[in-house]
Amino acid sequence: MASLWSPLCDRLGINYPIFGFAHDVSTVAAITNAGGFGVYGATRRFPHEITEELAAIRKLVGNKPFGVDLVLPPGMPEHNSREAIEAEIPDAHKAFVQGLIEKFAVPQATEPGMRTRFIRSKEIEDAQLRAVLDSDVDMFACGIGAPPDAVAEAKAGGKTTLALIGSPHHVERSIRAGVDFLVAQGYDAGAHTGPIGTYSLVPQIVDAAGDIPVLVAGGVATGRHIAAALAMGAQGVWLGTAWLLSSEHQGHMHPVNTRKLIEAGSADTVITRSESGKTFRQIRTGWSQAWEAEDAPAPLKMPYQDVLVGDLLGAIEEHDIEPLIHSGAGQSVAYFNEVKPVAAIMRELVNEACTTLQSQTLSGQWLVDFGDSDLVPDLRNRPQGRPSRRVQGSVNREALRVADGSALAFIAHDFQVLRADKLTIEQNRDSMGLDYQPGVYRDVSWGERQRGLWEVHAGWEEQQLVIISKARNMRVEERLQLVSPDLLEVRVNIDADGEQLEFLRVFNRQP
Ligand SMILES: Cc1cc2nc3c(=O)[nH]c(=O)nc-3n(C[C@H](O)[C@H](O)[C@H](O)COP(=O)(O)O)c2cc1C
Repeated sequence: MASLWSPLCDRLGINYPIFGFAHDVSTVAAITNAGGFGVYGATRRFPHEITEELAAIRKLVGNKPFGVDLVLPPGMPEHNSREAIEAEIPDAHKAFVQGLIEKFAVPQATEPGMRTRFIRSKEIEDAQLRAVLDSDVDMFACGIGAPPDAVAEAKAGGKTTLALIGSPHHVERSIRAGVDFLVAQGYDAGAHTGPIGTYSLVPQIVDAAGDIPVLVAGGVATGRHIAAALAMGAQGVWLGTAWLLSSEHQGHMHPVNTRKLIEAGSADTVITRSESGKTFRQIRTGWSQAWEAEDAPAPLKMPYQDVLVGDLLGAIEEHDIEPLIHSGAGQSVAYFNEVKPVAAIMRELVNEACTTLQSQTLSGQWLVDFGDSDLVPDLRNRPQGRPSRRVQGSVNREALRVADGSALAFIAHDFQVLRADKLTIEQNRDSMGLDYQPGVYRDVSWGERQRGLWEVHAGWEEQQLVIISKARNMRVEERLQLVSPDLLEVRVNIDADGEQLEFLRVFNRQP
């Protein structure tokens, strides 16, 4: 497989800076085993289940790293008491839910649904946190809310910590809580999501986060999205919807949901509070439509909505109530149209990201194309071979007959692009290393720099990298342009003692 790298890979010991969130043990393990970083969504699991399931993932991944995610919203009730919450649910809401049960003839669930197995409370959150902190999981992710004490204890135990945020306003608070990374999660994302689109959000968060690395979440579905994430200054991506259709995840999916996800396009998801009380993106079904209807009450706050609908949600899946069966999913659902193994999804993401990144950078190994390049005469002595186009036309060949020490000889010595037949380029955000063979290594930074005798000005002008070097009576302008992903043209304009020459050097990318 091609190689996709960011500094996070070295820092965390992973092959690719691709994080995968899932509520399923085997999917999480498969993401880590495929070279990414699997993260287990444990927020609806009892503390003893968290302990067991993290141990199960560890067994599957060996010493490769993986993480766990808990949603810890502030303001939850102190104790795990269903009765206390039920007592506060308005009758109109109970009547609406009863109406749905009757309309769709939903039999009673034989056991509580995922959202009513226990009621979100401070008490249960503390016990879940304890299970996470006492485990050997490598990373602790805070889905909503990042309690500073928990973050500090996780870090003291050697765990990496991160927080998912959906607004630039949350950066400062999360950094103050001590997290090591941020996940900037935009509006496109599946499940709980905020109002700001991924593209609008990410650069703001990257700028505000300073040295804290940022991952992009929300709408990432292809290698092109990954390339865009890196271009926005992020160090990786975090995907949720992508894995729902993995083979590994099917044990966790109702087959009706698998079919609905395969059929869904980006416009087939909606944001509703009817699931949990917080804004939650899911595929549009009879469930979301029922809550959008004119007679529907406004959903309650978390955890009241959980209690109001939790048992019914469980019954809908248990008794196969087709029109109401639904799944959280992001707008990226449009890109996933078949069930395939996690490793295949990862391979496609990485390969496409590499191809995209390579097609947009000059980085790589290049070999001169003698057929299409101008033959550059030996400027230190006298012209040989076919002179450059302009030399051929208008310039007196004898003008090239210059002695060592002249301006042209000086330029020939310092600008190896004229002679090199191999070139290795390493392109960074604000500089570039150019290694000419035969020749010398040049380090070019954007802006103005003094390099020995030369005053060098470098930067991008539309699609061209322009490097202008001036010294005494000499000026050399190099324009590097990627004509196609595999074809690089370098135009060199020389002004030596008032004499003007132009050469074109053409390079082909080496695989
Ligand atoms: C079905 C589903 C359930 C999710 N549950 C949680 C969760 O419990 N905690 C959490 O932090 N994020 C959760 N997420 C959000 C993911 O962590 C991730 O941020 C999001 O899926 C990224 O956007 P994408 O769906 O466009 O890939 C969930 C996402 C999906 C699709």
